Amino acid sequence: MNIEYNIPLKPFNTFGVQAVAKKFIEIKEEKALYSLYDNGVFNEDFFVLGGGSNILFTQDYNGTIVKISSKGIHHFIEGNYVYVTANGGEIWNDLVWYCVNQDFPGLENMALIPGTVGASPIQNIGAYGAELMNFFSSCRAFDTQTGQFTTFTNEQCQFTYRDSIFKSKYKGRFIITSVTYRLFLHSKQNTSYGAIEEELAKRNIVTPTIKDIAEAVSHIRVEKLPDPSTVGNAGSFFKNPIVTLDKLNDLKSIFPNVVFYPMENGQVKIAAGWLIEQCGWKGKQIGEVAVWKNQALVLTNIKNATGVEIYDVSTKIIDNILKKFSITLEREVNVL
Ligand code: EPU
Repeated sequence: MNIEYNIPLKPFNTFGVQAVAKKFIEIKEEKALYSLYDNGVFNEDFFVLGGGSNILFTQDYNGTIVKISSKGIHHFIEGNYVYVTANGGEIWNDLVWYCVNQDFPGLENMALIPGTVGASPIQNIGAYGAELMNFFSSCRAFDTQTGQFTTFTNEQCQFTYRDSIFKSKYKGRFIITSVTYRLFLHSKQNTSYGAIEEELAKRNIVTPTIKDIAEAVSHIRVEKLPDPSTVGNAGSFFKNPIVTLDKLNDLKSIFPNVVFYPMENGQVKIAAGWLIEQCGWKGKQIGEVAVWKNQALVLTNIKNATGVEIYDVSTKIIDNILKKFSITLEREVNVL
């Protein structure tokens, strides 16, 4: 077990904010978790870090940061399905391209989502008409309370929009060390999301391959979302709030242009980016924090913002939205 002390976390979070971890351990093979357990690491404060793309550090971390860096992807085909298993430290986008390059369809709409494989089930990542829960078969996870590995099926993960059992009942307890995705070998491409249709039309592509879709999605993301390697950010800072149909109708009577997506359960998701833009925040800058000019759901660190400054701006936004629309926005990022 190799513990490092007083490690600056700026390179380990895509917001690029400064914070120091008292202890830091990098895990390259899942079996190393046994020795962490035996040495009592999990009896004190610890936090598991993947790509650091969904986290806001607002203070130094006094416990142990456990960084999962285990790599490896393999697959097998069974009937009409291909099962692809990737270790937790793999970069999500590398997994997407592993699948695209072998013509395994399903994940291409989620190209270029930042982060790692191990983090992908935690908030049930999704983008451009696809959601992880529709491709997730199972994951292997280390139970920090018992020191044993266990397997979670899709059902056991209790996925809902940007949520799973790992964010609720089991928050902070399990470390996901590998994920198996089940892809349907002959599935139809999913191009129903307006922005994808438009991008394919611009490229004069009528019958897209999954590579065409992955490239189109990557292009849309690059155009619309800030690149964390140049502008610190953590993607969507807030979740799209879910409201009842009655609430939607109330909103429509005052704001006829409200942007929303119907959900299967009869409720609707309101586009938080729209709400934030309506309150005049799009492109606005306070000190070193700015709301992204092309997508108001994304907060950015211009250069030297602190986590607290970013958090304070997010609180101001939440207060504004509550006052104007009587809707409470929830943060999507983890605040530590
Ligand atoms: N909109 C505005 N102003 C804005 C942003 C959006 O009016 O500043 C309205 C527009 O009408 C736009 C609609 O909202 O058409 C939807 O915007 P977008 O397609 O960007 O999707 P989103 O609902 O804002 C979600 C995910 C993103 C994902 C996109 C694309 C959440 C919290 N966010 O955003 O995920 O890339 O859909 O599928 O669900 C992330 O989680 O980090 C992330 C970037």
